[in-house]
Amino acid sequence: MASKVDSELKSSIIITAALPYANADLHLGHIASTHLPPDILYRYLKHGRRRVVQVCASDDFGTPILIAAEREGKSPSEYVAYWRKRFVQDLTGLGIAYDLFYKTSSKENVKIVQRFFRVLYKKKFIFPADVDQFYCEYDKKFLPDRYVKGKCPHCGALDQYSDGCENCGRTLQAGQILEPRCAICGREPARRTSKHYFFKLSAFSQQLAEWLASNRNLQPEPRNYVLNWIKEGLQDWDITRDIRWGVKIPLREAHGKVLYGWFDNHLCYVSTALKLSRKSGRTGQKYWNDSTIYHFIGKDIVYHHYLFLPSMRLGEGSYKLPDYIPTRGHLLLQGKKISKSRKWGLKVKDFLEVLPADYLRFYLTRIVPLGQADSNFDLDELKAKINNELVANIGNFVYRSMSFIKRAHDSQVPSPIGEGEEERSLRSALATAVKESGQLIEEGHYDRALKSVLDFSTRCNQYFQQKAPWEKRSDESTTMYYSINVVASLAILIEPFLPFAANELWKQLWLKGSPAQHSWEDAGEFLLKPGHKIAEPRALIRKVEDTDIQRLQKAMASA
Ligand code: MF3
Ligand code: ZN
Repeated sequence: MASKVDSELKSSIIITAALPYANADLHLGHIASTHLPPDILYRYLKHGRRRVVQVCASDDFGTPILIAAEREGKSPSEYVAYWRKRFVQDLTGLGIAYDLFYKTSSKENVKIVQRFFRVLYKKKFIFPADVDQFYCEYDKKFLPDRYVKGKCPHCGALDQYSDGCENCGRTLQAGQILEPRCAICGREPARRTSKHYFFKLSAFSQQLAEWLASNRNLQPEPRNYVLNWIKEGLQDWDITRDIRWGVKIPLREAHGKVLYGWFDNHLCYVSTALKLSRKSGRTGQKYWNDSTIYHFIGKDIVYHHYLFLPSMRLGEGSYKLPDYIPTRGHLLLQGKKISKSRKWGLKVKDFLEVLPADYLRFYLTRIVPLGQADSNFDLDELKAKINNELVANIGNFVYRSMSFIKRAHDSQVPSPIGEGEEERSLRSALATAVKESGQLIEEGHYDRALKSVLDFSTRCNQYFQQKAPWEKRSDESTTMYYSINVVASLAILIEPFLPFAANELWKQLWLKGSPAQHSWEDAGEFLLKPGHKIAEPRALIRKVEDTDIQRLQKAMASA
């Protein structure tokens, strides 16, 4: 992705992360591709005091959620409220700083969704057609998507939902499933005609292709395969569901029908950002259209974000398309795919019971690149990376510097006596790290940005080792003045990645405010003046033990 952030200093930035379905706990896969990357960008941009907001929401509507609520004997709204609360707990626990975590079932979202429907309908981008649907005579219900189970027509797998096969990964159209059975009562469903509404996706092929080709911020891989889908021909899209849980279709003749979840959910990016800004109508549109827009997603929802989302905005006409859709691959756990049905995963809350949030942020950032490649979460590697890089590198340098100041200087920053070759070289390494890491973040390479900060920390350790302050050479005070100042620099540089450690370190340095209040460039300055007193140093990061790994292993297998 090209770095345009600098030229957009004055305009505001809106960052969104794909909305989790309100029917299951967040697991590490959600965090790796969708929630952590935007949080790094967001926190970094805040250092530049840019006007930036970050929003997300629970994805509340849809058949699976309705079915799950029914199974638990709860009303759907009660059910989704529970999950939304759980999301906020986990995300807060991870230090993911949403300015607003809202919901697709909000009145603001329902309003904008219905307006989109009306406009698109009026412009004939939405049209009605009769379709055959499964219907259960016994339950007196239409049976969309997951209400029907059967045999996959492609691979023959049994017990698959009618909207897609978990075994071969193909999506299925209504009615394609073989040997259909009602998921509620197990009886064979009948077929009935129902009037449905279709979104004319095919009408946007040309415009979509042009946008994909001209928006140079989009990653080449998804761009290319989406362009291929367009070439193969786009299908118009059934946006109706004959159920009660969803945004009601705002037409009298569509009484009792709701919109498909993928019609309403992505509009929640807009409705949530506007709610947060307290802007609406034309002012809201202007705010949106003057902003730089980022939608962070995982690669499984490329179709929806590169086709549905832009075409709906193009058709409606008042909200601009995203500038960036940073798209990342899947996360494997111990080399295996995360799967609910195979009971293989790791929930955020289970991780946080064993290890601190920063450890997860650190490790995931280290292993997840910008791109479509899958990453592998490996417990032994997690342990090695935390212990060798976080503890032995950053943690060690910080603790040694601080304890030395405490012991040898009564916790006061000493005055330097001039600057030697080593100091000049350390300063220049710092300047390089500040510049390079900032640039890499702006380009979306958070893994490499963190690596650049780590390399600088290695450099700091080498400096300390070479200068050996414990030998009490004549320039010992210079060594310690430099060391403790680059500790403060590190606090700023690690903040987007490790916000908890950064803030803790700031406290220990007895600095005012927080590292986040400083600009990124401030990390290149020496903030600690001679005579400044620091607080009691305490180890920032503890080692990962084998028992931690065993507990995580157990949690994975029972996810
Ligand atoms: N809930 C969807 C999923 O988990 C993602 C929705 S993102 C949206 O696949 F914004 F488009 F809503
Ligand atoms: Zn039935």
